Amino acid sequence: MATLSIPSTPSIFSVMTQLANEYGAINLAQGFPNFPIDQTLRDAVSEAAQGGAHQYAPYQGQLSLRTAIKHFIEQHNGYPITTDEILITAGATQAIFTTVQALVSTGDEVVLLDPCYDCYETPVLLVGGTPVHVELGRDFLPDWQAITSAVNSKTRLLIINSPHNPSGRVWTEADFSQLIHLVSMNPKLTILSDEVYEYLTYSSAHISVRAYEALRTRSVVVSSFGKTLQVTGWKMGYLSAPTPLMQRILNVHQYLVFSVNSVMQDAISRYLPTFNPALIRAEYEERMMYFRQGLSASRLTCLPCEGTYFQTVDYSQISTQNDVDFCMWLIKEHGVAAIPLSVFYKSKKDLNHIRLCFAKDHETLTNALEKLCKI
Ligand SMILES: Cc1ncc(COP(=O)(O)O)c(C=O)c1O
Repeated sequence: MATLSIPSTPSIFSVMTQLANEYGAINLAQGFPNFPIDQTLRDAVSEAAQGGAHQYAPYQGQLSLRTAIKHFIEQHNGYPITTDEILITAGATQAIFTTVQALVSTGDEVVLLDPCYDCYETPVLLVGGTPVHVELGRDFLPDWQAITSAVNSKTRLLIINSPHNPSGRVWTEADFSQLIHLVSMNPKLTILSDEVYEYLTYSSAHISVRAYEALRTRSVVVSSFGKTLQVTGWKMGYLSAPTPLMQRILNVHQYLVFSVNSVMQDAISRYLPTFNPALIRAEYEERMMYFRQGLSASRLTCLPCEGTYFQTVDYSQISTQNDVDFCMWLIKEHGVAAIPLSVFYKSKKDLNHIRLCFAKDHETLTNALEKLCKI
């Protein structure tokens, strides 16, 4: 039996977090907020726990939650959606895995845009598909010529991610025009759009593939309550897909998890109508500006941050080490943990860039800045 080349070691996020703990370093590596969640959300969890939603939920998700999401999307994203087009998942990771299992078969190709999040490739390999890695341009925006050349009659999925982890770049209308053209030229192609940072954009507004009629029927969109509600540990998310694709995705979903945590579904359905993503966006923008301002006194060079809660920096003024060694050195000698960008590339391309997470309280950011400015 052929051996699959899926990673057998812990992810870089676990490695860096473990090392940060070992050396007592400030953890700006793993992407999670370290400040308290909204009290109203805590209350919603308590109310849900006292209520009756303790047995299996309907496998597509509680109707109350899908209805709350529908209203939320229509109000805040501005495009129509039905509750039948929404599936509640155990985080975005499961949504991605399930979609790939449902839509990709042995021998199909899936185009991934590097640098990309680490959970895209494994489900493709497990289903016997071939991941085709295409690098984004030097500015971390799509290189449409390279993407167009990579897509062929065997390409079943193109996985895209905007706002982009790790770079923080956000796709423009021009990118979506190119995407519409690509889809129109390739009738078998489906887009899997990872939009988990959709409510965290600053200088550039987020555009969803679902905003375009021509893409809506050809796309699966993945969202994460972990990112939107600052509760990464809950592993709650959802995807939206047009009915023919949803049917196939549901077939896999029911055998993978059947249904997702009923109490959390109930809690989120109570909370979502009260949640205003504009407030969270403003809060994160303030953190981002504070962090960037602080870094301007360091020898790290900030790249643009249009969205997400990550700031990518270039450390070439400080060191010629490769980015993995630089991150080890940063933890051990300077007490700050980061993620090297090369791990997001199949080719392990080293640009002397590292990713720092600014979803941290003021004190943590201030302490980290003090350390980073001394290097
Ligand atoms: C781009 C991207 N996609 C998906 C995920 C996974 O989200 P979840 O925790 O909801 O599975 C993450 C988490 O960091 C992410 O950054």
